[in-house]
Amino acid sequence: MRTMEWKNNCLVMIDQRRLPWEEVWVELEDEHAVAAAIRDMTVRGAPAIGVAAAFGMALAARRIPATGRDEFLGQMEAAGRVLRGSRPTAVNLAWAVERVLRAVRAVVGPADALAEAALFAAQRMADEDVEINRHMALNGAALVRDGDTIIHHCNTGALAAVDWGTALGVVFMAHQQGKRVHVLLDETRPRLQGARLSAWELERAGISYEVIVDGASGYCMRTGKVNIALVGADRVAGNGDTANKIGTYNLALAAQDNGVPFFVVAPISTVDLSLKSGDEIEVEQRDGEEMHSSYGARLYPAHFKVRNPAFDVTPARLIAGIVTENGIARMPYRESLAGMVAKA
Ligand code: MRU
Repeated sequence: MRTMEWKNNCLVMIDQRRLPWEEVWVELEDEHAVAAAIRDMTVRGAPAIGVAAAFGMALAARRIPATGRDEFLGQMEAAGRVLRGSRPTAVNLAWAVERVLRAVRAVVGPADALAEAALFAAQRMADEDVEINRHMALNGAALVRDGDTIIHHCNTGALAAVDWGTALGVVFMAHQQGKRVHVLLDETRPRLQGARLSAWELERAGISYEVIVDGASGYCMRTGKVNIALVGADRVAGNGDTANKIGTYNLALAAQDNGVPFFVVAPISTVDLSLKSGDEIEVEQRDGEEMHSSYGARLYPAHFKVRNPAFDVTPARLIAGIVTENGIARMPYRESLAGMVAKA
């Protein structure tokens, strides 16, 4: 399922806030609308927000009046700042903006040629995302055996990318290969990406699953029925420390204590070699209203004090391997990840 595309000079995407209740597609016409959609999580998931930002750059390029090249590039850089500022943790966002800027800077010609280059770069990134995820899914599916129960956090399926997804992409591939798998989906408080989005995707694919509350993951592993943990990533530091949805670290600790191999599935574009360790990753802090209320239902009084970090960092020592499109990186990650980035 392709979850976003360029149509009639707009970016069209499925509104993830309305799932699983309704399938609504929204049309975005400029970079400000794309930045707002990333911020309010109409679109979410690291690869998906990267590609959305690339299309945001293409939308900006179309609206810049015919001016000189320097002026055009200046306005493109301003659009890049708007998009980059929408969410801080997933490196794919800054990476995608930079890639479109590079494509535009490489063109010498009138404004419409530069705008064309921006759109071409964005479309190419969307198509590449699908191919990369398919390769990653094939690499990861080799870790999954017939009859396995997989534990998973957040949503990492087609909704979190353009198609296939990362960790859930591995599940889709294993299923397609005829392996019978069962997936335990952490609900993933506070926004319930696991219960709303991952369950919706697995249900459509006809894959066996159960949603569990986040706090039940340790129990499920301790009572012996989980074979492997698969999660995605928003940013992987050079030493393999991995930022992902809040609760991932707890899951990795429980996996370690119960001998369940814990794998991260992420494209090379999520690896940030400029960071030495996970301590340097900026963790987004979101509005506490997401905790007080869940999709219209008030859960506890709005004046109760809360803290709402959206991500956490799992230390590399808890990670059995990082599945990429170029193979599975293993410890020591500094060397294996650098090798994979160089190959890309
Ligand atoms: O806040 P979200 O829903 O954007 O967080 C998403 C995640 O943490 C995913 O696990 C991550 O982006 C990898 S998705 C392929």
